[in-house]
Amino acid sequence: MTQDELKALVGQAALAYVPDGGVIGVGTGSTVNCFIDALATMKGRIAGAVSSSEKSTERLRAHGIAVLDGNAVDSIPVYIDGADEIDRRGNMIKGGGAALTREKIVADTAERFICIADESKLVDTLGRFPLPIEVIPMAAAQILRKLRRLGGEPSLRAGVVTDNGGHIIDVRGLAIADPAAMEREINQWPGVVTVGIFARNRASVCLLGTPQGVRTLEF
Ligand code: 5RP
Repeated sequence: MTQDELKALVGQAALAYVPDGGVIGVGTGSTVNCFIDALATMKGRIAGAVSSSEKSTERLRAHGIAVLDGNAVDSIPVYIDGADEIDRRGNMIKGGGAALTREKIVADTAERFICIADESKLVDTLGRFPLPIEVIPMAAAQILRKLRRLGGEPSLRAGVVTDNGGHIIDVRGLAIADPAAMEREINQWPGVVTVGIFARNRASVCLLGTPQGVRTLEF
């Protein structure tokens, strides 16, 4: 099976986690696009979606799915999103699509995070995928220096401005042995909007696409 077929498989499988009549959180990326397309077949069964990016909002609306303002919603039973990497405890690296800040906001509101990913995303230790960090532009140079001191090789993602007007730094060469500690550390630097480590908001469940079918990992 191709990677695209695996993404379609888990996008479809995630429908089983969509609560009848509820509001769901929707992530961003190519795997989530498969989920949104599948969701369109049962859109009458949900009250609407809180979206994590302008791109997902556009796709949801194109299918006629109501997009709700997160500020107007008290609870989101499930948040469905992809990941760039996920470890065996449900910690993730996210932000390959530059939507990490809004993704973390919606994930933080949600009761459960259902991660959908093809099997190439499962790792023992996070860090092979360059770690994205959204920063306020005027702080970029200082944050690049601090990341070098931490042992990483950071670079500014060229030409990218996030939905929030931020810039993205990608950090190579970090072996993230303690995701929660690194998330806490980087998040407190002035000018960091969000680091793409999702440990505090880790996955509750991962639907992993494999050639043998969907493997469900519960954390
Ligand atoms: C976007 C993300 C995505 O979830 C992540 O990049 C995975 O994307 P894809 O499903 O296209 O592989 O964090 O900011």
